[in-house]
Amino acid sequence: MVSWENIQASNTSLKNYGPNLVGVFVGGTSGIGESTARAFVKYAVSPRVYLVGRSETRASQIIEDLRALNPDGQINFIKGDVARLEEVDQACKEIQTKEDKINLLVLSAGILTMKGREETDEGLDKKLSLHYYSRMRFLYNLLPQLTNASNAQDAASGQSGLSRVLSVLDARGNAPLILNDLPLKENYSLRNCANHAITMTSLSMEELAASYPATSFVHTYPGLVKTSLARESGSLMKIALNAVFLLLTPMNVPLEESGERHLYAGTNPMFSPLNSKGDAAAIGSDGIQGSGSYLVGSDSATVSNQKVLEGYRADGTRASIWKHTLDIFKGIRGD
Ligand SMILES: NC(=O)c1ccc[n+]([C@@H]2O[C@H](COP(=O)([O-])OP(=O)(O)OC[C@H]3O[C@@H](n4cnc5c(N)ncnc54)[C@H](OP(=O)(O)O)[C@@H]3O)[C@@H](O)[C@H]2O)c1
Repeated sequence: MVSWENIQASNTSLKNYGPNLVGVFVGGTSGIGESTARAFVKYAVSPRVYLVGRSETRASQIIEDLRALNPDGQINFIKGDVARLEEVDQACKEIQTKEDKINLLVLSAGILTMKGREETDEGLDKKLSLHYYSRMRFLYNLLPQLTNASNAQDAASGQSGLSRVLSVLDARGNAPLILNDLPLKENYSLRNCANHAITMTSLSMEELAASYPATSFVHTYPGLVKTSLARESGSLMKIALNAVFLLLTPMNVPLEESGERHLYAGTNPMFSPLNSKGDAAAIGSDGIQGSGSYLVGSDSATVSNQKVLEGYRADGTRASIWKHTLDIFKGIRGD
């Protein structure tokens, strides 16, 4: 467990990266994404922030708060239903017209629902898209800007610029995949949907960390954080979830703490990209120090013993998952 003091000390040193860091928070209009954006704005010097989500009302309130928290920050809202890859592409284009570099991309758009498969007009399950395909599309589109961010070297230390992607899901939960039905057209269940989103995230992040060695990739498990995650569920689900939070109160991670812990995962130098690993680098998801992709738990420590990933790495499944993802993109968006 990384202590609260160490989390705060690390976040306070965010100013050492210099001014004008750019953070994109997909799912920044609520919950963990919002609280991570708040922490970013609190500690960064003259940051530029993009909150992506659907709720304009919520975004306006957050923007007002964030401007008061750091008057030198520039906070923008980009509206979109990002379960649709077309809207992901539009959001990315809007960001790319304004920014050459992105230092931190936080992916936390998601829903909690007990519904079965619910297809978007693009043919993907809505939940699997929000938790995996849409997030990977953001990442894929914004790789040039993430790579540019790493090129900005600090004159004094020689340290590369911050270039990191965070996906907030369940770093501990990697499980076997149904390899002949990755989008779960025939085998949909809530369990399978969670398993596929989680495990494909870990495998794709490893694959990308090797191909894009100037950027690091972190898959986090936030623990139990009381948010509005069940807002699209029925009232029974909301009551059940509230009961879980009540029963497990001692294990809940307060929302503000979760934001600070995610900022730590998003900025601490120990989660370094492959090309700038140092002696202090954390152990990567493949068991190798500083490999550029990391699994991080709610206590901000790395998660280990990921047997299922080991098998998929060895038999080439890891590479084929990323290829499948690119094929899905090509099928829906043409590239
Ligand atoms: N909270 C927990 O205890 C917990 C535990 C484990 C894992 N997680 C995972 O962490 C992630 C974040 O959860 P959270 O607790 O922060 O939930 P949250 O408070 O409900 O936030 C979810 C965010 O996703 C956005 N979103 C949902 N559907 C969208 C869509 N179609 N298009 C654009 N944006 C959309 C929402 O924005 P708009 O409403 O503005 O669209 C909101 O900003 C989720 O993937 C969840 O599965 C959470």
